[in-house]
Amino acid sequence: MSERIAIVTGGANGIGRAIALELAAAGGVVAVLDREAEAAAAVAAEIGGRSIALPLDVSDSEACRSTVAEVHRRFGRIDHLVNSAGSFIAAGQHATDADWDRILAVNVRGCATMVAAVAPLMAAGGGGAIVNIGSVSAKVAQAGRWTYNATKGAITTLTKCQALDLAADGIRVNVVQPGWVWTREVERAAGGDRERWEPVWGRYAMLRRLADPWEIARPTAFLLGEGASFITGAEIPVDGGYLALGPEGLGETAAFAGSD
Ligand SMILES: NC(=O)c1ccc[n+]([C@@H]2O[C@H](COP(=O)([O-])OP(=O)(O)OC[C@H]3O[C@@H](n4cnc5c(N)ncnc54)[C@H](O)[C@@H]3O)[C@@H](O)[C@H]2O)c1
Repeated sequence: MSERIAIVTGGANGIGRAIALELAAAGGVVAVLDREAEAAAAVAAEIGGRSIALPLDVSDSEACRSTVAEVHRRFGRIDHLVNSAGSFIAAGQHATDADWDRILAVNVRGCATMVAAVAPLMAAGGGGAIVNIGSVSAKVAQAGRWTYNATKGAITTLTKCQALDLAADGIRVNVVQPGWVWTREVERAAGGDRERWEPVWGRYAMLRRLADPWEIARPTAFLLGEGASFITGAEIPVDGGYLALGPEGLGETAAFAGSD
């Protein structure tokens, strides 16, 4: 198989960083695109080889298009795109117009613009694969989170539309929906104390724990690869059983004997 060229937005930290490392470990070349230029450069340096870092705020559509063009100019092709960059603005009925404008521009328009920019270049190279990083928050109610959850729901629907429109060009598009992952946003919420909070938040998932970023990266790499050649337009929860849990939770209180 020829060397794969991948773009990972939000690749400087957390899940995006783990995906960049995973793709590189499989022999890929990665363009790490992130608004945190120094951290992105550190990931590219850690990967080594021909991988690069470029600064990008995905809410800047013109910058998305010119950065994708720059990656294509350098490598001559683009095989994979992962949209992991995301805003975590979580506000409910008191969300401001600025909150809405920002999170929609990053999470929804940013994802759409990146896919629109890479699609013709992937098509010219014979096809490709894209993974958008959604969330379990796309699927359920969570208190005070109109902004974040609405954009993750939009990413799910957007993914299906992208998959339909790009299928004829040999481009597959899927959305991965992580549950709680130990990255800096969660770490901040936990005050850095994983030992204290993992038993609490872990109970939201059947596996009774949080994920580490590599556990999202591996399924993402699978979806980009040949083994997933018949998977497109799919929502893939990578959530330790979060979405399969019902109101009865982990089952400690609801069990009763049935009768014939
Ligand atoms: N951590 C979780 O529990 C969790 C759960 C479900 C979904 N997610 C999703 O996973 C994705 C990655 O989150 P993470 O937990 O790795 O967070 P993170 O903060 O560790 O990494 C996010 C990266 O995206 C970059 N970024 C943010 N806004 C950007 C923008 N406008 N332009 C370019 N880069 C930008 C940041 O600089 C950072 O490097 C997000 O889309 C998030 O919504 C995370």
